[in-house]
Amino acid sequence: MSKYWSSMVKRTEPYVPGEQVEQLDIVKLNTNENPYPPSPKVKDAISVEMERSLQLYPSPTADELRQTIGNIYGLTADEVFVGNGSDEVLAFSFMAFFEPGKVIRFPSVSYSFYPVYSKLFAITYEEVALNDDFTLRVGEYFQSEGGVILPNPNAPTSLYAKLDSIELIVKNNPDQVVIIDEAYIDFASESAVKLIQKYDNLLVIQTTSKSRSLAGLRVGYAMGNRSLIEALVRIKDSFNSYTLDRLALAGAKAAFEDEVYFKESTGKIIATREKTMGILKGLGFNVLPSQANFVFVTHATVAAETLYLQLKEEGILVRHFNKPFIENYLRITIGTEEQMARLVEKLKKLV
Ligand SMILES: Cc1ncc(COP(=O)(O)O)c(C=O)c1O
Repeated sequence: MSKYWSSMVKRTEPYVPGEQVEQLDIVKLNTNENPYPPSPKVKDAISVEMERSLQLYPSPTADELRQTIGNIYGLTADEVFVGNGSDEVLAFSFMAFFEPGKVIRFPSVSYSFYPVYSKLFAITYEEVALNDDFTLRVGEYFQSEGGVILPNPNAPTSLYAKLDSIELIVKNNPDQVVIIDEAYIDFASESAVKLIQKYDNLLVIQTTSKSRSLAGLRVGYAMGNRSLIEALVRIKDSFNSYTLDRLALAGAKAAFEDEVYFKESTGKIIATREKTMGILKGLGFNVLPSQANFVFVTHATVAAETLYLQLKEEGILVRHFNKPFIENYLRITIGTEEQMARLVEKLKKLV
């Protein structure tokens, strides 16, 4: 702490991301990245862009990328906002739609960035408890004072809430914005995007970091009524006109255009997830019914922290959260078939 720090810096409690390692022999199952590379078309598009005009600023409005995303989801470009990873889009959304002094709500077990943004922007929040099976208490999000944010599927629980539950929450907050953070939706059933035409208070946020294998490129996006999108643009343009660089714009567009590759790689991850869930259950784990690219598990006899540390020693990184209610759980990202086989082989010795 320094006397030169602003009150904003003093009140922050920064988010701590999962460990990033450069060692190639580590099996990295701790930050929900995609184990497969992006579509080869991404690399081609980035190479072309590199040869073109890096001396010039990128498009501040990212029209082409917004149009490409809009085409996929049946929206117009002005119903789409793009930003530097969905974390940035989330941060802008807190600024654009949540008000200091008005209490927002999110689940008590949820994405750990929400309390961080709340503190940063001086927004008060209420953490809504989950049921014992980690499902949402839908009615407790109704008539919020300041708005609602929740991930669907939830992280780190991996559980998906059906669209009619999401719709009830949106419908019962008619004067507030409800943000659905769909970072993992492509591994689940239905997106809330289809509700956008019906509700002008719904903002859906997605990312290219998971299902499109572009965590390293940092491209996230929000979809909603054009007046919500306009609010996000106003925040962005008061902060940094060029949040996405030329390579990110070109690479993300190519990823969205390769629907075949996208379907194939998400399909592979879902198949590996289903197989892994079965094997882990056989090893005595309680496995939550995942609709994400990770599983959330607890073992009948061996403590999660012990397993986390022992796996780490064996060169396998998974995520353990030292937090109430979930301290005996591990979040394990779904990797390739080979990576999961290595995990299972080690677990068989440890449990
Ligand atoms: C629920 C949730 N939302 C958002 C993000 C951020 O994704 P990104 O900033 O890479 O788009 C993550 C990343 O793990 C996440 O788990």
